[in-house]
Amino acid sequence: MSELDKLLASCLYEIASCDDLKKLDQIKNAVFGKNGKITEMLKALKGLSDVEKREIGAKINAVKDTVNSRLNAKFVELEIALQEKKLASEFIDVTMPTPLHRGGTIHPLTKVMEEVSDIMVSYGFVLADGPDIESEYYNFTTLNMPDHHPARTMHDTFYTNMCADEHGRKLLRTHTSPVQTHAMLTHKPPFRFFAMGRVFRSDYDATHTPMFNQVECIMVDKDVSFANLKWFIANFLKKFFAAPNLSVRFRPSFFPFTEPSAEVDMNYEIKDGKMVFGSGDKWLEIGGAGMVHPNVLKYGNVDPDIYQGFAFGFGLERMASLKYGVPDLRNYFESNERWRNKFGFSYVTR
Ligand code: PHE
Repeated sequence: MSELDKLLASCLYEIASCDDLKKLDQIKNAVFGKNGKITEMLKALKGLSDVEKREIGAKINAVKDTVNSRLNAKFVELEIALQEKKLASEFIDVTMPTPLHRGGTIHPLTKVMEEVSDIMVSYGFVLADGPDIESEYYNFTTLNMPDHHPARTMHDTFYTNMCADEHGRKLLRTHTSPVQTHAMLTHKPPFRFFAMGRVFRSDYDATHTPMFNQVECIMVDKDVSFANLKWFIANFLKKFFAAPNLSVRFRPSFFPFTEPSAEVDMNYEIKDGKMVFGSGDKWLEIGGAGMVHPNVLKYGNVDPDIYQGFAFGFGLERMASLKYGVPDLRNYFESNERWRNKFGFSYVTR
C-alpha cells in the first residue's frame, strides 16, 4: 500500500468514526492545515520533475478531493445531529395545561377594552381606527383648531422630527378624536363608530401618564340631538359599571370640536373605603362630550345642513381604575408581575 493509500484509508476511517465537530476540525487541520499531511505532500512536489509532478500531483489531488467531500458530508451530518439534540432538549409540549399560578393574566385595560367593545357593538357601533402618529391636520385642523389656535396648546403635544408634509408636522396623537375625521371621510352617513387606542401627552404623575388610552365615539344621522347623547352616555356607563341607578351629570364645558360641549360626571359614594357608583351625592368626571361641530362635519365631507352628530371621549385607564380599584395610573405600564397578579384577570374564569 502506498503512503497515499494509507493516508486515504486512515483519513476515511477517522472521519467515519468521528462524532464531534471539534474533533472533525482537528482531523481537517491534520490533513489540510498549514503543516497538514496533504499540504506537506503537495509542498514536496516542488523538487520533482514535471512528469512526476503531473502524475503524483494528480493522485494527491484525487485523495484530497475524496477526503474533502467526506469531511464536508460529515460536518453537515454532525451539525444536523447537534441541532436535533438541541431541539429535543428545548421541546415544549404546547398541549400541556398552563400552571395557573405562573401563567399570564389579562391586563385590566384589555379587559376594559373588551367590555367597552361589547357594549358599543350591542348598540350598533362599528370599530374604527387611526394611526398613533398623526399629522397636525387630523389631530388639530379637522377638529376645528386652525393654525395658531390657542386650543392647540391645551394638549402638551409630542412632535416628532419626521418630515412635515402637506398635512403639516407629524406628532403623536393627543386624543382619539382624529379617528372621527378618518371615519367620516371613508364612510357615508348615517354611521356610528367607536375607536379605542393610545394617545400621548407630555404629562407624568399619579393620575397622568405620557401615554394612555381613550375610547372615542361618534354617531352621525339626520336627527341626532343632545338628548340622544345624554341617553346613550348614561346607558353606556350604567352598563359598564353594572350600576343601573347611576346618575350622570353634564357640566357645560368647551372643546373646539363640539358645540355645545360638556364634561360628564357620575355620582358615587365611599362605602367601606371603596367607591360605589350609582348612589351618593359625590361627583366624578369621566370624560368629555358634545355635539359634533359643523366645521368638523365639513372636514369629514358631511353636510352639516342635513346631518348632526354626537361624540364623546373617555379615558380607558380611568374607567378601569374606577371599576376595578386600581390606584396609580403609572402602574398600568410597568409590567410589574405582582401588580399583574393582583389586578389582572384569569383567562379561565372570565
Ligand atoms: N378629545 C377630547 C379629549 O381628549 C375628548 C372629547 C371627545 C370631547 C369627543 C368631546 C367629544 O379631551
